[in-house]
Amino acid sequence: MNADLVIVGSGFFGLTIAEQAATELGLKVVVLDRRHHIGGNAYSEKEEQTGIEVHRYGAHLFHTSNERVWEYVNRFTTFTNYVHKVYGVHKGEVFSLPINLATINQFFRANLTPAQAQALIQEQAGELAGTDPQNLNDKGIQLIGRPLYEAFIKHYTGKQWQTDPKDLPADIISRLPVRYNYDNRYFNDKYEGLPTDGYTAWIEKMAEHANIEVRLNTDFFDESHEYSKDKVVGNIPVIYTGPVDRYFDFAEGDLSWRTIDFEEEVLGVGDFQGTSVVNYNDSDVAYTRIIEPRHFHPEREYQTEKTVVMREFSRAAEKGDEPYYPINTAADRERLLKYRDLAAAEKDVLFGGRLGTYKYLDMHMAIGSALTMFDNKIRPHFESGSSIE
Ligand code: FAD
Ligand code: NA
Repeated sequence: MNADLVIVGSGFFGLTIAEQAATELGLKVVVLDRRHHIGGNAYSEKEEQTGIEVHRYGAHLFHTSNERVWEYVNRFTTFTNYVHKVYGVHKGEVFSLPINLATINQFFRANLTPAQAQALIQEQAGELAGTDPQNLNDKGIQLIGRPLYEAFIKHYTGKQWQTDPKDLPADIISRLPVRYNYDNRYFNDKYEGLPTDGYTAWIEKMAEHANIEVRLNTDFFDESHEYSKDKVVGNIPVIYTGPVDRYFDFAEGDLSWRTIDFEEEVLGVGDFQGTSVVNYNDSDVAYTRIIEPRHFHPEREYQTEKTVVMREFSRAAEKGDEPYYPINTAADRERLLKYRDLAAAEKDVLFGGRLGTYKYLDMHMAIGSALTMFDNKIRPHFESGSSIE
C-alpha cells in the first residue's frame, strides 16, 4: 500500500478529485470501481451491431453555466454543438416540449399570441386558485391548469413514479415551466454539447495521469484486496462516492431510489424517430420515452441501414438494482440526516457525489462540487496538514 489517497468510485466526482490530486499535488491516487469500466453512470460504448455510441446508464446531455466547470471539462474533450430538444406523443399526435407556445397553439388548435396564451393558462390554473394543494395532481392543475397538466404531466409523472399523482406529495414539483414563446431548447444553460469523441474517451483522458491507478472490478467492501475499507480507513485518506447507507451497513435503514430498465433494440431502419428523445405522455404505453442515440451525433457518419433505440421503464429500485434518482420521502430525509452525522464523524473519509450525498447531481454539478471539495479540504490537508473531516 503506497497510495496517498484512495477514491471509491470512478464517476465524474471521483475522477475529478483523482485528476486534481495527481496534477495539482503530485499525489499517488488509487481509484476503485466495482464495475468493469470507469466513468460511473456517464459511461458509453459502441453498440456492437451498429457502431452507434450508446450511454449505458441512460442518455447523458452535458450542459452548464458554470465558467470554471466549462473551462475544466474542456481540458479533456471538445464538445459538439448538439442542442437538446424533446418531443412528446399525446393521443397519437407529436408535440414540442417543454410546453411552449407551439405546444399550446397545437393543443388548443389556436393562433394565440404570448399574452393571450398566458391569460388562457392563468384562467385555467384558476380552477384551484387559493387552495393549498395536498398532492401532486392538485399542484399540477394549480400551476398550469387542468388541460395541459392532464395531457403532458399527469400520466408521464405517474409512469415515472409508478404511482397515481393523487397519491404523490405536492412538493415533488415546485414549478412547471411554460414558455410563452417558440423556444424549445431543453436546457437554459450557457454551454451545451456532447463530447466529440464520446464520454468514454473524455473519462479516460481524466484518468490518464501516471500517478492515477484505476482498479476495476474492485469493491471497497470486499476484504480480499489491499485497498479495502477495513485496511484503508484510518491509514489513508478516502474519498467515498458509493451509497452512504451501504458504507454504514444500512445502520439507519435503506435510502430509497428509483431505477430505470432499458429495453434496447436494433432496428432494420436507418432512422426510427427522426430525433434523439420522444416522450410518451399517455398511460397507454408503459415506457416513459424512447431514446435513439444516433441523433446525439448527427455529425458522425453512422451506417444508414440500422439504428438502435432504448425504451425506458421507470420503477422503485430494489436491492441489487442501479440506484438512479433519490425518492426522498420524509423517512429518507430523516435517515439522511443521521447518515450525514455518521459521515461527518468518520475520520479521514469524505463523502461525495450523488450516491455519497443522496442527491441527484447533473454532471456539471458533480464536477463542480468535486472541485470545491478539492480546494476546501484536500489541498489544505496535503499542503498544510489540516485534518480531513
Ligand atoms: P456515479 O457516476 O454514479 O459514480 C459512482 C461510482 O462509484 C460508480 O461507478 C460505482 O460503480 C462506484 N461504486 C459504488 N460503490 C462502490 C464500491 N463499494 N466499491 C467500488 N466502487 C463503487 N447528468 C447530466 O449532466 N446530464 C444528463 O443528461 C444526465 N442524465 C442522467 C441520467 C440518469 C439515468 C442518471 C442516473 C444520471 C444522469 N446524470 C446526468 C447524472 C450523472 O450521471 C451524474 O452527475 C454523475 O454520474 C455523477 O457522478 P458521480 O461520480 O457522483 O456518481
Ligand atoms: Na468524514
